[in-house]
Amino acid sequence: MTRARLAPRPTSCFRDDVLAGLSTPRKRLPSKYFYDAAGSRLFDRITELPEYYPTRVELSILRAHAAAMAARCGPRCLLVEFGAGSATKARLVLDRLDRPAGYVPVDVSGEHLRAAASALADDYDGLRVEPVVADFTTRFDVPDLPASRRVVYFPGSTIGNFDPPDADSLLRRVARLVGPGGGLLLGVDLRKDPAVLERAYDDEAGVTAAFNRNLLVRANRELGADFDVAAFRHRAFYDREYSRIEMHLASLVAQRVRIGPDAFDFRAGETIHTENSYKYDVAELALRAERSGLRLDEAWTDDLNYFAVLYLTAA
Ligand code: AVJ
Repeated sequence: MTRARLAPRPTSCFRDDVLAGLSTPRKRLPSKYFYDAAGSRLFDRITELPEYYPTRVELSILRAHAAAMAARCGPRCLLVEFGAGSATKARLVLDRLDRPAGYVPVDVSGEHLRAAASALADDYDGLRVEPVVADFTTRFDVPDLPASRRVVYFPGSTIGNFDPPDADSLLRRVARLVGPGGGLLLGVDLRKDPAVLERAYDDEAGVTAAFNRNLLVRANRELGADFDVAAFRHRAFYDREYSRIEMHLASLVAQRVRIGPDAFDFRAGETIHTENSYKYDVAELALRAERSGLRLDEAWTDDLNYFAVLYLTAA
């Protein structure tokens, strides 16, 4: 069983991370590299799959409880979204906020950000939209707009892609960023029947498999690697001990892959560990958050308890 730490490193690049990840006895690649243009399109298709419940369920929770969430944020708050992407989920909250001081989408993709920001500014008359191009796992500055409170919005259960110690430091950084009395609105995928989880990460149509293999396609294109993409099989399984879905790419045969001057040998069946997606329960996450300086105020879930959105306040 692989116990790789897959959290994004602040100062890293694709080439260094691929070479380093394939040089360890348990090969791994960081999941943050899934999201090039093709990978982002594949991820959008994943969110529409019948088996992939998280996006659908989170949206239903946001729709049902947006007013209560906005009330928690309070009047004149500054909403700072981590990993904003297309900002669809932000609209549900923005629609209900009382005279927001501004919206600060933070994302590594400047292109995405600018498009989403200008669309938002058009639709929300008078809303100050101040995009920040940054990796939210690193230190970055938030525009100092006058606001009654800062609230970080972190939907999509992206927190689940961090190993627990890295999730803890991210929570601590959020607490520092919003300051005492500031908030965190956090979407998190919950523990459930492993069969449901495994189906969500290994769909019938093979979209998640294509998403996973796209890492190899990307390495071939960007690094001149010679991965035989068809010679790797998608694997996703739930590890009960760690409460996480692990995704791997398993080599179907013994093979050698070259990247420039470097060669990497695979045994038949050997895997590259590409993603962890941790599943929490609300009480456990509340405890972790508490230790990081964030107290749980309210949790909203769906009927099946598949997903939760939490509002937490910084001490
Ligand atoms: C939405 C980024 C958290 O872990 O469920 C979806 C990514 N990986 N299918 C998740 C993902 C495989 C996803 N995140």
